[in-house]
Amino acid sequence: MTDSDIDEVLRIEQQSFPTPWTWTMFDGELRNPVSSAYTLKVMRDGAPVIAGYMIFWVVYGEAHILNIAVHPDYRRQGIAKTLLDAAIEEMKRLLVYEVFLEVRRSNEAARALYRLYGFKESFERKKYYGDEDAIVMVLDL
Ligand SMILES: CC(C)(COP(=O)(O)OP(=O)(O)OC[C@H]1O[C@@H](n2cnc3c(N)ncnc32)[C@H](O)[C@@H]1OP(=O)(O)O)[C@@H](O)C(=O)NCCC(=O)NCCS
Repeated sequence: MTDSDIDEVLRIEQQSFPTPWTWTMFDGELRNPVSSAYTLKVMRDGAPVIAGYMIFWVVYGEAHILNIAVHPDYRRQGIAKTLLDAAIEEMKRLLVYEVFLEVRRSNEAARALYRLYGFKESFERKKYYGDEDAIVMVLDL
């Protein structure tokens, strides 16, 4: 992901989350040395468009997935899996042994996706999202 992707990413973000990240939050991640930010582009009408994106941190052998979303037009086509496969490959290269993420309790799509990768539901953070609890999921690599 680069600065020039952020406007397009924001449009997907706003269609994907009840409390979407802002432009400044994405920009901050692009400047954060522990952060990796990727887009997955596909061709639409002869031009590349962003179908999905993902952001994660790696700090001393632990990774934290902060954001992953797929454009509504491209869901259930393996885009999130492609992003996660690439991220996990990079994490292994960086000697990560444990991956964490938070997910809304009501987000069945995401919880199913993470379970597929072997993430285990570990504990809850009460009212993490203000209006809802987060489930913390953990994957041992
Ligand atoms: C969750 C999300 C990223 C999944 O992206 P996607 O590209 O549609 O996912 P994939 O096509 O790679 O799906 C892989 C697997 O995850 C599971 N899955 C994905 N979406 C699902 C859904 N709506 N219901 C049940 N299982 C689902 C399935 O096991 C699926 O495999 P299958 O299609 O062969 O059955 C997407 O729905 C999204 O952007 N949601 C809004 C943002 C969000 O909630 N992000 C996660 C925050 S923690």
